[in-house]
Amino acid sequence: ESLSSDKQTGFHFQPSRNWMNDPNGPMYYNGVYHIFYQYNPSGPHFSNQMHWAHSVSLDLINWTPLDLAFSPTEPFDINSCWSGSATILPGDKPVMLYTGIDSKNQQVQNLAVPKDLSDPYLREWVKYSGNPIISLPEGIQPDDFRDPTTTWLAEDGKWRMIVGSQKDKTGIAFLYKSDDFINWTMNDAPLYKVENTGIWECPDFFPVWIDSTDGVDTSVISPRDRVKHVLKFGLLHHAKDYYMIGSYNPEKEHYVPENELTDSTLRFDYGKYYGSKSFFDPVKNRRILMAWVNESDSEDDAIAKGWAGIQSFPRTLWLDGNQTQLIQWPIEEIEMLHENEVSFHNKKLEGGSLHEVEGVTTSQADVKISFKLTNLEEAEELDPSWIDPRLICSEMDASKKGKFGPFGLLALASHDLTEQTAIFFRIFQNNGRYVVLMCSDQNRSSTKNGLDKMTYGAYVDIDPQQEEISLRTLIDHSIVESFGGGGKTCITARVYPTLAVGNEARLFAFNNGTESVLISKLNAWSVKKARINIVEETIRCTD
Ligand code: FRU
Repeated sequence: ESLSSDKQTGFHFQPSRNWMNDPNGPMYYNGVYHIFYQYNPSGPHFSNQMHWAHSVSLDLINWTPLDLAFSPTEPFDINSCWSGSATILPGDKPVMLYTGIDSKNQQVQNLAVPKDLSDPYLREWVKYSGNPIISLPEGIQPDDFRDPTTTWLAEDGKWRMIVGSQKDKTGIAFLYKSDDFINWTMNDAPLYKVENTGIWECPDFFPVWIDSTDGVDTSVISPRDRVKHVLKFGLLHHAKDYYMIGSYNPEKEHYVPENELTDSTLRFDYGKYYGSKSFFDPVKNRRILMAWVNESDSEDDAIAKGWAGIQSFPRTLWLDGNQTQLIQWPIEEIEMLHENEVSFHNKKLEGGSLHEVEGVTTSQADVKISFKLTNLEEAEELDPSWIDPRLICSEMDASKKGKFGPFGLLALASHDLTEQTAIFFRIFQNNGRYVVLMCSDQNRSSTKNGLDKMTYGAYVDIDPQQEEISLRTLIDHSIVESFGGGGKTCITARVYPTLAVGNEARLFAFNNGTESVLISKLNAWSVKKARINIVEETIRCTD
């Protein structure tokens, strides 16, 4: 019996009830996509008895729930089964690594394998009897050692994985090696570490082609001049995932990032997006990214809803042509859910005007819009004291008139616009260059109080003189997931309108700047409801 609520999503992954956080062990095996996730079967809150729930899909859109994959039952995981990752071993054998909290409340790394490889859904998993395969390293606090990655194989025939940790506030990706997947030894030097960042959660380490949008299998290390490596980790205190792009040398076990970790470090998403994990999809030869998007309402709201936590819509990810950042884009399977397309070209949006997009179910929609600007010499100067784009977005919210901008979309808007989530751009000039700022403004997203309505913002690395400024936004009741500049800058927000719900929700293109902008193209679709974790569809284990 799935709970009906106007906040429940139509095409974003969520369990029918209870608490969910990180995606775990996403993989493709033998015709089936698997997603596991951190789950508390006893209620809509995090607990000290975390489980792995499990769903399968043939298309990454519709998901069938299965029985729980891991429950805290053994001395090596009796106090929780925490996050981990899948690896498909040669010979097409999936294995799972996960963190257990053991009977001494220490974090340890465990191995598990499917019970029956001929079961198309891999419903039952067997924990290795010799667990843990890696115990807590000396000198590391018991709760600072977790989240093993998908492993990779280097030319020396040894498997490698990293595990997130910290020592004296230095965030660390410990590197482990193994010949047989059972016996693991820690490399003297970690793969990477950064002082004063605290524990690194859910690290991810994977190659990307420098000259192709295709995905790269995690074990591909060469040709060395065709791949770069991405190291991603979550900083607990910021609840943010950061990534670096660099080169990896497996002989020296050396990772050299090209960008530093600073406040402006690259992020997959500048809104709510944490515990992300990617996997290689051999069917469509792409790398897919998913992440936990937590709630912005309260624990009481979670109890009222009966659930908390959703997953981002899966994104394909690849290296931008300039090789300095990643591009992310909703997987093409979303088109299966498209209906009622509306589109138009070349519509001028005068300064201070609105244009309603009608004909789509705007509480569950996919919207693409592109803007073309002329006379950019008129753009405002960027105040050099403004360093943090998020702060510019919160000080200059959607209601503050500029010259070029704010222009963009008003999603989940009520009839009188008291409720609206504004996703918009502003153009500035700075020393003869043009700067594109992207914001997601949740200030007016709901008339309800007690919500986190924080504004998000980031720059988009495009030249508005040469390129149109594009925005794609996935709207799904309580989530607004936006992709600026063709996926260069992504911002995900959670919102809980009280008026702009269901058929009452409206969608507008807006321009609250003084200069006019041209909408060169708009396409919008209603997105049909996907079949996601409908409990009656549970495939039960039969003896
Ligand atoms: C990240 C995280 C992981 C941990 C899991 C527990 O959100 O804290 O580090 O394994 O969640 O649910």
